[in-house]
Amino acid sequence: MKKPKYQIIIDFIKEKISKGEWAIGSQIPSQRHLAKMFEVNRSTIIIALEELMADGLIEGIAGKGTVVTNNTWTLMGSGFSTNWNGNVTQGIHKPSVSTVQEINDAESDNRLIQLSKGELSPELFPLKEMQDIVQKVSEQLTPFGYEEPKGNLKLRQTISSYLKQRGVNVSPSSIFVVSGALQALHLISIGLLKEKSTVFLEEPSYLYSLSVFQSAGMDLSGVPMDNKGVKVDSIFQTKETGRNILYTIPTFHNPTGILMEEERREELMEYCIREQIPVIEDDVYRDLWLDNAPPEPLKAKDRHGNVLYIGSLSKTLSPGLRIGWLAGPESVIERLADLKMQLDYGSSTLSQLAAEKWLSSGMYEHHIEHVRNQLMIRRQRALDALEKYLDAFAVWDIPKGGFFIWVKIKPAFKVKKLFEKALSKGILINPGSIYKENEGQFVRLSYGFASLDEIEKGIYQLSEIIKDNNK
Ligand SMILES: Cc1ncc(COP(=O)(O)O)c(C=O)c1O
Repeated sequence: MKKPKYQIIIDFIKEKISKGEWAIGSQIPSQRHLAKMFEVNRSTIIIALEELMADGLIEGIAGKGTVVTNNTWTLMGSGFSTNWNGNVTQGIHKPSVSTVQEINDAESDNRLIQLSKGELSPELFPLKEMQDIVQKVSEQLTPFGYEEPKGNLKLRQTISSYLKQRGVNVSPSSIFVVSGALQALHLISIGLLKEKSTVFLEEPSYLYSLSVFQSAGMDLSGVPMDNKGVKVDSIFQTKETGRNILYTIPTFHNPTGILMEEERREELMEYCIREQIPVIEDDVYRDLWLDNAPPEPLKAKDRHGNVLYIGSLSKTLSPGLRIGWLAGPESVIERLADLKMQLDYGSSTLSQLAAEKWLSSGMYEHHIEHVRNQLMIRRQRALDALEKYLDAFAVWDIPKGGFFIWVKIKPAFKVKKLFEKALSKGILINPGSIYKENEGQFVRLSYGFASLDEIEKGIYQLSEIIKDNNK
């Protein structure tokens, strides 16, 4: 006989608890989440939870939701169980804010229209080429072990040529391979900066959606932007030198899409040299230009070793490769490479070999041209839909590259509510608040991931949600 649904849910939760996967003290998923997971009504979930409560396995605790209070072992009186709940709130690194955690979870739900994802669509994934490259890597494979601390030499040589074509002249010994740009940021935060340093950054910024620098004891200090980039005259340095660094995304900024213009780049570099402020240049979106090639990186103007330059294959090719790079003075690179050895002994050799083949074979440049053409079509579809459906309720600028449109919703409708309502209707957007945007009235829409029809449908649905509210 088929088990009733509530019994399936009870058995599932009991198994999680008895295996220790949901340890004592941990919060179990919300009723809403469980109902979605098992595709049942909330009432079925409530029946299951009541039974588990009667068994003494879980308990509703005010302010904490439903929490595991016993496991089968403690109920049988056979001893000690660690309460991990205390530990998980005590680690050095801060958790992501709850909205970011919610978005991260929702991003793997492929039933949703993903207008949030900072990632290329599966439609733009060069599967055949990737298969060919992996095949070639496999045919040419020799025994491989740990790589050298800075990463595979051949890949670093290739990255050096790639950067030269973009105006940055750095030798392979000044390049360090990382498992994505985010790892470079993490290593900088733990390896280069004194505690209580101030990190200047554009406000809003991608960096606000992470707790990398704050967890390492740094303060973030937001600097306003205009449509030419960060406003240099707003960077007020705290008195002590050696305690400040600037983090900037000058090219197709995340989340606003702003491209820092040439004159502003010169002004910024001049200011940072004069004031001795080192710069982290996050340039992961550079190759996604749509109208014209962007000005050269800040790093191209760097004669003093003042800029730490970060790039990645995540936005242009595949975030799953986990390959990025950092270019900077050798002393910095060596320090961070040593730290990386202590953390993970280097990025995967297979990924490094695949990345090397992509970049050295010309296939990367070919692929990126295709991506740019497709992104132009996607951007147009998104802009047309915005014009058609959201014109009365929002304003936005046209991004010159990358895949984000930073949309300001008129104040009558609260973005937090829009985020929640949209999610309940199957559309995921990023509320501007996760990027520390002051008035809370922005959303970041991505045209990189969803299909063309989904982009249009998603934007239409957003307008319907706003309209319904105004009725
Ligand atoms: C500005 C910026 N830097 C870094 C990253 C992280 O990239 P990676 O996948 O290379 O770690 C992202 C991804 O969203 C980003 O937007």
